[in-house]
Amino acid sequence: MTSATASAPGKLMLFGEHAAVYGHPCLVTAVDFRTRVLVRRSEDKSVVLRIPSRPEPFVLTVDELQGANSFPGEIRFLATAIKKFWGHAGETFGMEVRTQSDLAHSFGLGSSSAVTVAAIKALSEASHHPLDLDLVFRLSYETVREAQTGLASGFDVAAATFGGTLYYVAETRLVQPLDIQELPLVIGYSGRKANTVEYVKQVRTLSQTHPQLAGGIMRHIASIVAKAKVGLERQDWAQVGLLMDLNQADLQALGVSTHELDSLIYAARTNGALGAKLSGAGGGDCIIALVDGETRTPVEKAIAQCGVAGAQVVSPGLGAEGVRLDQWRE
Ligand code: MEV
Repeated sequence: MTSATASAPGKLMLFGEHAAVYGHPCLVTAVDFRTRVLVRRSEDKSVVLRIPSRPEPFVLTVDELQGANSFPGEIRFLATAIKKFWGHAGETFGMEVRTQSDLAHSFGLGSSSAVTVAAIKALSEASHHPLDLDLVFRLSYETVREAQTGLASGFDVAAATFGGTLYYVAETRLVQPLDIQELPLVIGYSGRKANTVEYVKQVRTLSQTHPQLAGGIMRHIASIVAKAKVGLERQDWAQVGLLMDLNQADLQALGVSTHELDSLIYAARTNGALGAKLSGAGGGDCIIALVDGETRTPVEKAIAQCGVAGAQVVSPGLGAEGVRLDQWRE
């Protein structure tokens, strides 16, 4: 086969954001907003990258791509993944690459990691160079670290690669799938896209200027994650909800929550959610609220009507399948 399509899911951080960057454990679930990447090898020495946000493709020679140290933001992850794969396979080759994604990018649910993982998988298939999932994860994680200047725990790459709901420890690269039948969450988009790198850097500055205070918060988050893992496995929702509220308090202490995120969280809590927190780097994107059969509808309504411009409920399937070969959809 000289052409292949692979797809990978997006991610939703459940517990442990920011602390994860410092090696602490976190809990994440894969969401079924998928990103597809088609790789078609060609005989000539050009690399043609077609992405949905651009009518015209990016065209580079193999040598230009191989020699470049930085790429425009829109193709950074894709181009870095190609370079990374060439390095691993020990060959360079021309190709056309196309990407396509469901809604993950619109809500900050992880399209950069998904495009990277799907690209590595499609490149390996199109080149008859099979990779097991651990290697897909490793090459993708190295790609994301390079493209994002090192400030990434890799939890999103783990979700895109392995799928399901995971306990992930960045320091040891431990990926432990959790057997969780149900995750009764409402996801609320805050109407504003977050800049992950900016907020990760902001927390790094706090960690440098106030190492003891920030370190204490990180360790507190780590102990919440340990308890939340048990709570999720036992489906002890009262406990999980309480831990979500505590984790949110830590994220507020780190300075990454916003007025909009807080408004969605309070709307959810005052309408019966068992707990609510932001999900991801903060500054925007999504919140998650824990609900039961009776509170789901009031919580969803409260989020949609909380007065924050652009606030809306998004409902991807959770615990989605990890990277897989797929069909390109015209
Ligand atoms: C961003 O979604 C979550 C962070 O912990 C960054 C990371 O873990 O790579 C802030």
